[in-house]
Amino acid sequence: MGYPLRILDGMREEHLVAVYDRLPLTVECGRGCYLFDAAGRRYLDMASGIGVNAFGYSNPRITAALTEQAGRCVHTSNLVSHPYQEELARELCRISGLDRAFFSNSGTEAMEAALKAVRSRSRSLDPTKTRLVSLERSFHGRTLGSLSVSGQAKLRRRFEPLDRAVDFIRPNDQEALAAVVTKATAAVILEPVLGEGGIRPLETEFLRQARELTKRLGALLVADETQCGLGRTGKYFGYQWAGIRPDIVVTAKPLAGGLPLGATLFTEEAAKHLPLHSHGTTFGGGPLACRVALECLRLLEETLPGIADRARQFRSRLDGLARRHSVVTQIRSKGLMFGLELSRPGRPFVVAALERGLLVNCTRETVLRLLPPYIVTRDEIDRAVEILDLTFSAAPAGPPPRCRGPRRLPSP
Ligand SMILES: Cc1ncc(COP(=O)(O)O)c(C=O)c1O
Repeated sequence: MGYPLRILDGMREEHLVAVYDRLPLTVECGRGCYLFDAAGRRYLDMASGIGVNAFGYSNPRITAALTEQAGRCVHTSNLVSHPYQEELARELCRISGLDRAFFSNSGTEAMEAALKAVRSRSRSLDPTKTRLVSLERSFHGRTLGSLSVSGQAKLRRRFEPLDRAVDFIRPNDQEALAAVVTKATAAVILEPVLGEGGIRPLETEFLRQARELTKRLGALLVADETQCGLGRTGKYFGYQWAGIRPDIVVTAKPLAGGLPLGATLFTEEAAKHLPLHSHGTTFGGGPLACRVALECLRLLEETLPGIADRARQFRSRLDGLARRHSVVTQIRSKGLMFGLELSRPGRPFVVAALERGLLVNCTRETVLRLLPPYIVTRDEIDRAVEILDLTFSAAPAGPPPRCRGPRRLPSP
């Protein structure tokens, strides 16, 4: 059958499975909020590696922790212990209000651990509890379990049959929630802010109702904080805006500063349902990722108080942008998560913005999504909005700004 030969920014992809529709940018290195290509052109990255690089590229503290630990021990396996896993679990429990952590390597794996705990609990407590409740437009990952509870037909269709015991309801539909959660419900699974679904914050009342119903009917509440957690909304976790405590919390993306690390957090009660030998991983929670994650949590502690302020500045500049360009029909945001609903497909705007030196991405076809690093400055916010302004005005695209001198890349 053969894949189409793809040539991207001079890079041929002949040996890669063609699942990514990449932008024409080949990255040489990154520094702060900027990426650089081999020609020294710089790109302001307001997607932060899809919410991963919260503390910027080449952050000196992350680099120091990483290089120091790389010289000591990268991997151990979970046959033995190392000092950083328990310490990291303790920190995550402190900031989340939960009791125990299981470490894996990605958001989708962290969700799988949650789903397995839910299933194990139902089987042991009440085997008639077979149903899961999730939200339309939600996204929980690409492994088969996570895909089963993701409310996006486009992603699911090719991989059917998936677990059919899932009821999808509209986000923030309190009536539907009240109707669908019954004694047969094993868990309600939700993202406090739907990320891939187009930046849609759940209302406080909806989150509280989900907590109340699950408690009353003996189901678990699972909060997927992969995209909206760890400071992105201005609190450690998105559910904290509603003053609730879920039974299980899924987190990943910025946790280890770009190293793969996921964590599933459990209440003591929920953790009991993953007993000895019931789950595990080779790489999850290794010393390198955990050591770097501890440094990231220290950085988060220092950065968190400023996030609300930065978010307000960004939002007000984007509101101005929307007033100037009718193609932007709505702006949704929570903290440093922004979705610009457009009246047209967003991809051409993403490409045009990249040509001017700004990296953003598009989700749900018509939503420009911005997930800026937490360290974004006022000047960088102004620059990002300026480039979007030019892009929407369809002014002729100039080349992205150059660093001084050809091929002068920032030293690592
Ligand atoms: C809410 C949510 N859950 C799960 C995932 C899957 O994470 P990963 O790609 O690390 O498996 C994502 C990824 O974007 C996400 O946004």
